[in-house]
Amino acid sequence: MAAPVVNKNYLKEIERARRDLRALISSKNCAPIMLRLAWHDAGTYDAKTKTGGPDGSIRHDQELKHSANSGLKIAVDLCEEVKARHRVITYADLYQLAGVVAVEVTGGPTVDFVPGRKDSMVSPEEGRLPDANQGARHLRDIFYRMGLSDKDIVALSGGHTLGRAHRERSGFDGAWTKEPLKFDNSYFKVLLDIESDSDLLELPTDKALVDDPKLRYYVELYAKVSFKGSCGSCWCCSCGNPQFLL
Ligand code: HEM
Repeated sequence: MAAPVVNKNYLKEIERARRDLRALISSKNCAPIMLRLAWHDAGTYDAKTKTGGPDGSIRHDQELKHSANSGLKIAVDLCEEVKARHRVITYADLYQLAGVVAVEVTGGPTVDFVPGRKDSMVSPEEGRLPDANQGARHLRDIFYRMGLSDKDIVALSGGHTLGRAHRERSGFDGAWTKEPLKFDNSYFKVLLDIESDSDLLELPTDKALVDDPKLRYYVELYAKVSFKGSCGSCWCCSCGNPQFLL
């Protein structure tokens, strides 16, 4: 897909918003929920019908009320502070930029950001995001619908290196890793019991990644991979370049 074209002023505004997001996310320690917001806006994509996806529609009450999005109003409201200072930027770009900044400020790689997403007034129907109580087959149904692969399922699930579940939002409780504000590959190590702690969370969908042999292959790969601070050099970009394996 060709990169959407934006003008110079828009790019300048993106850089200003990036700085504001850095300050906001660092001061409020809200990187995890910002990454979840970016993912939930994007994760409704349907490649066949070209509907859903990162189009800012999650800001609408109707979509925020979907049970998978419980708690995300907090992140939408935080982003509103930045939107108020950078009106020209679309919500769709703002939410994805918040995800990029969340990864960066927690010590993850610098992810290339390509602006130019359009906002949508239409929310997709409920049920497009994954259900944590299901297994590998369901994960494939959801991620393949987006045009993604087994490798992408595992790489993206590594987002759970950040943050925690809240009983009142999802019914689950606890963090996946010992340091939920640090972006690294410990999520994969915990899954394989290389770093274990009985208090850590494992959703049924996390467990599916180690029970399914094809998915487990990537968990084992990413548990061995470190990154060196820029995109293209870690498990999360899914490039699989062997020179970055330890
Ligand atoms: C693979 C399917 C996935 C399922 C079933 C799933 C499910 C969940 C659930 C149940 C929660 C807890 C929400 C709460 O109680 O606050 C959660 C949190 C989270 N998810 Fe996922 N998720 C998936 C994929 C992803 C992906 C692809 C990303 C990002 C790339 C991601 C990022 C996060 C983050 C950062 C949190 C923590 C939010 C916080 O601390 O407030 N998840 N996820």
